[in-house]
Amino acid sequence: MSTFLGPRSSVRMYVESALQELGWSLPSHATLLVKPCSHPRFGDFQTNAAFLLAGELRQSPVSVAETIARTIGSTELFEEPTVTGGGFINFRLRKAWCQSWLTRIQGDPRLGIGWVERPETVVIDFSSPNIAKEMHVGHLRSTILGDCLARLRRFLGHRVITDNHLGDWGTQFGMVILGFKKAGDWNALRERPLEHLEQLYRKIYEATRTDPAVWEEAKGELRRLQTGDPENVRLWEEFCRYSLQELSRLYERLGVVFDYQMGESAYRHMLPEVVSLLVEKGLARRSQGALCVFFDEDPELKEHPFVIQKSDGAYLYSTTDIATLLYRVEKWQAQRILYVTDARQKLHFRQLFAVARALKLPVQLEHITFGTILGEDRRPLRTREGPSLKLRELLDEAEARALQLVSEKRPDLPLEKRKEIAQTVGIGALKYADLSQNRELDYIFRWEKLLALDGNTAPYLLNAYVRICSILAKSGTVSESPIELPQPEEWELAKALLGLGETMRASMEESRPHFLCNHLYELARAFHRFYESCPVLQADTETRRLSRLGLCRIAAQSLKIGLECLGIKPLEEM
Ligand code: ARG
Repeated sequence: MSTFLGPRSSVRMYVESALQELGWSLPSHATLLVKPCSHPRFGDFQTNAAFLLAGELRQSPVSVAETIARTIGSTELFEEPTVTGGGFINFRLRKAWCQSWLTRIQGDPRLGIGWVERPETVVIDFSSPNIAKEMHVGHLRSTILGDCLARLRRFLGHRVITDNHLGDWGTQFGMVILGFKKAGDWNALRERPLEHLEQLYRKIYEATRTDPAVWEEAKGELRRLQTGDPENVRLWEEFCRYSLQELSRLYERLGVVFDYQMGESAYRHMLPEVVSLLVEKGLARRSQGALCVFFDEDPELKEHPFVIQKSDGAYLYSTTDIATLLYRVEKWQAQRILYVTDARQKLHFRQLFAVARALKLPVQLEHITFGTILGEDRRPLRTREGPSLKLRELLDEAEARALQLVSEKRPDLPLEKRKEIAQTVGIGALKYADLSQNRELDYIFRWEKLLALDGNTAPYLLNAYVRICSILAKSGTVSESPIELPQPEEWELAKALLGLGETMRASMEESRPHFLCNHLYELARAFHRFYESCPVLQADTETRRLSRLGLCRIAAQSLKIGLECLGIKPLEEM
């Protein structure tokens, strides 16, 4: 077998080609499942294929299953499939094949994980905070998730372009400019730009609520900015510059890198063209003064026209997003774009994607949504005083708590070293807590859970990695020797190791990092059990010692690959 995705993917491929051979096709609504067997006595994996076909074929699931099993027969990877449970088809991995595969990949930094067959140019639009405002925890999920999706896709061979679509041209700037003209402080701007600008914004925003004249003034400032008044443009540029500096410090702490940070303002000159294009194509028409794209054919969007220009001529978030989309397809040849934002923007992206379809843009678009981070009171995470938590403060606390933990475990290390470890553990724990959740769900944030040394956490995985590295370091240099799996704990570990590549694929395809997290956790646990019952350095024979060291190397490399794809720096000491 030249390419090997993983045992589960192989079962799927065997089943699919058997069905093709038999001329049977699955009903369109059916989902072919391949799962670990409910009990090891049945085998390693099972599929429901026969149940999906029985009805249409007018045969019993058992007889359909038997035909499929016979068609597949025994293969180099699996023993002859068996049928149980009224029609499940079971597959048992051949140990010999697994041993030789693991032996082959033990020295490969990619562990035999292949590249995608059809690499695409993928733009990932994530983080994208509105500037002149503090980043809040709400931006954390987009930042962490987007970064992880970029890493996964890159690792598997796609050309990825990461883009921070900063909100740097919105109506907030009218208020911020007005606020700055009234009470701005250049020193404060230099030192704490986001905090200062947010304060100025708040003050004006409060004032507009009681005094409509202030609202008019702010609108005037915005208009002057948008029509190129030199003073306002200069202020805006300074606001952006200082905000970006502060934001980059946060991104640096998070280890997140963008290829581009093309904010909304970058597209402002394209907006008139975009509007005329949509009018020319007959997609946009005027309604109550505003220009809108209507989606008459789409039952879900029929009632929700996409407003692209207000009656006073102003452009909107929608207009900028259409311009951005055209730009990415034309200039970057994007074949796929992922937008990572919370679920509240669902309608906006549905509308945007409908525009793309109407324009027949050759691009796949996906909105990757996520839920809310909740405090223990099950309300959106906040500070004790009430306002929502600043990302900066959250990172500080994560590092401080991790430092305490590291200091308890390793008082022998110098403070600098402990701080360095704490940074990785703290930020890693924060990321992992997020990525290990099904992204669509809200989750409750608990420091104790995040930093626990046992359980599905970053510290647990980092710890496992450190342990394996120390075994390998103690072993000295090792020759690559045949891997053998006589003990059940070795065999279980081997199976976990074999599934990494296909789990990464699934994680990438569905944009669900928690698949990868769960797999790494299972892998670390399997390693733990292996380590408890199979002495490595003290193995009875040299052959065994080398075989187990091979397993250790693959396990360490698996964790390293996995953690790096999650954006967590693997530590060699902890
Ligand atoms: N700035 C927006 C916000 O904070 C998110 C932008 C997402 N990306 C996009 N292309 N619309 O809600």
